[in-house]
Amino acid sequence: MDYLKKLSRFIMPYKRYGILNIICNIFYALFSTLAMVSLMPMINVLFDEGEQVFEKPVYAGFGDLKEYIGDSLNYIVTTITQSEGSQQALLYMIILIISMFLLKNLFNYLGLYYITFLRNGVLKDLRNEIYSKVTSLPISYYSEKRKGDIIARISGDVNEVKNSLLAVLELIVKEPLTIVFAIIAMLTISLQLTLFVFLFIPVSGFIISLIGKTLKKQSEKVQNEQGVFLSTLEETLGGLKVIKGFNAENKFNSKFQDSTSRFYRFSNILMNRQNLASPTSEFLGIVTIAALLWYGGSLVLIDKTLSGGAFIGFMTLAYQILTPAKAISKASYKVKAGNAAADRVLDVLNTISPLEDKANAFSKTDFNDSIKLNNISFKYEDDLVLKNFSIQVSKGKSIALVGQSGSGKSTIANLVTRFYDVNEGSITIDGANIKDLSKNSLRNLTGLVTQDSILFNDSVKNNILLGKEDATDDQIIEALKIANAWEFVKNLPNGINTNIGDSGGKLSGGQKQRLSIARAVLKNPPIMILDEATSALDTESERLVQDALENMMKNRTSIIIAHRLSTIQNADEIIVMKQGEIVEQGKHNQLIAMNGVYKKLVNMQSFE
Ligand SMILES: Nc1ncnc2c1ncn2[C@@H]1O[C@H](COP(=O)(O)OP(=O)(O)OP(=O)(O)O)[C@@H](O)[C@H]1O
Ligand SMILES: [Mg+2]
Repeated sequence: MDYLKKLSRFIMPYKRYGILNIICNIFYALFSTLAMVSLMPMINVLFDEGEQVFEKPVYAGFGDLKEYIGDSLNYIVTTITQSEGSQQALLYMIILIISMFLLKNLFNYLGLYYITFLRNGVLKDLRNEIYSKVTSLPISYYSEKRKGDIIARISGDVNEVKNSLLAVLELIVKEPLTIVFAIIAMLTISLQLTLFVFLFIPVSGFIISLIGKTLKKQSEKVQNEQGVFLSTLEETLGGLKVIKGFNAENKFNSKFQDSTSRFYRFSNILMNRQNLASPTSEFLGIVTIAALLWYGGSLVLIDKTLSGGAFIGFMTLAYQILTPAKAISKASYKVKAGNAAADRVLDVLNTISPLEDKANAFSKTDFNDSIKLNNISFKYEDDLVLKNFSIQVSKGKSIALVGQSGSGKSTIANLVTRFYDVNEGSITIDGANIKDLSKNSLRNLTGLVTQDSILFNDSVKNNILLGKEDATDDQIIEALKIANAWEFVKNLPNGINTNIGDSGGKLSGGQKQRLSIARAVLKNPPIMILDEATSALDTESERLVQDALENMMKNRTSIIIAHRLSTIQNADEIIVMKQGEIVEQGKHNQLIAMNGVYKKLVNMQSFE
């Protein structure tokens, strides 16, 4: 129940399928009991055992129901045997049995039919929700979580939940009802025998529950391990070149195998525990039946208080209880596994993003004055990466950030686009704190070219279109021209419709950079943030990329993070950073004249 409550938000949209399933299951339970009961008159006919009733019985109220049904059955059997012979009567009984079984199975199928929509629907919605959560969680979430773990949750765990949803309905409706109906029928046949059976049920129940105890924990372990090896796989696929280039195949193989060995161990334990369920309950069942045979046999043989047909009917009913009891123990294991999986899924879904928009976040559509970083301090983990850092970029100006590697340049790009929040101080656009803006509007105002060109396995066109969904081909080509990318794109086999491979793997480093620039150009945001790639380019493509940058900076407010100082000589202001602080600040010529850190950096690059 607790489990269903957890998932209720996902189940509710499909509740009518759940209800239809329950209705079908009620009929299923009813007919499966009747199917067993219908064996009784057949046996009576076969062995000529039943009481002969020649007079049509009259219904005398609820208290006599049992008598009435028994008499009616006997009456029907007797009249048919009398008028058409016992073989004919047998045939009718067989037809009755077949119909009962047909109905039982028909409703079984219908129940499964309806529940399928609920299960797959929940599966679909859970997947969609995780996926959209994946895109909404902040970047920082993924520095800690492994990507493969998310993949495991969206594929494996969700599936486990789906499987358990069938089990859970079996658990709460189908099988218990089957048992209840069977018990009613059993009570009708013999109170004495039924009480006898009841002595055994709690004992079996206890033994079975022992097996299920640690199951949730085990299955959590198994699922977690699945996350670990999927993460390894994901990293391996992403880093194949390095793995091969450094002959690290064996190292990664053994890392993967460590994980699969653990998976092997954990799932052996889990599966064998689950495997134990069925044989145990069957054996316990047959022990019950054996005891029943002994005791019931004496009622038939010695006391003669029970007819043979009724006894066999009772036995089949008792067996009828065993199957659902078995199913219940199995289903409860499945639910336990599903519960563990649901916890892992909900864990992702319930993660609260620290960067969620404020309730009264407003959207700012224009940029008029300036963007300011006011005394900001920031740390990713323990050490401050930026300390008391302030800059101002007025509209139409370009500011360049230079400095040694790790000085916090890319971090500034991360903060201005609000992938992370500053720890102290504030970032304002036209005086409005970016924490008060909706992230959507902030990111409409800013365009980001990241240090590593991030491209998707799609055509040139679709990669660029991320910048502006409704752009025409001409606009795309225009953007490509500004980014100096058109000259190579036009030579691709299908022009802008050429697929560029996984992460743009079919392109050179410089080509990828120019495509990312084109994407930002097409977006044409008022504020451009450009994190220049550090990868060394040959002089020819460096010039191309540099031209592209200059084209882009024209008439735009821009923050440029530059590694090639030649790129930024025309910037309105150059900020020289060291370990998260500003050490020098000014125009190119002023900084050269200062003969300080900047001069040294320039000299170093000219020697190269
Ligand atoms: N996701 C992260 N988690 C923890 N620390 C980080 C993270 N990203 C960066 N850092 C740390 O923050 C510091 C500044 O990193 P940043 O990427 O801003 O440097 P950078 O100036 O852009 O360097 P480069 O010129 O090499 O690109 C570095 O010391 C780095 O180790
Ligand atoms: Mg950087």
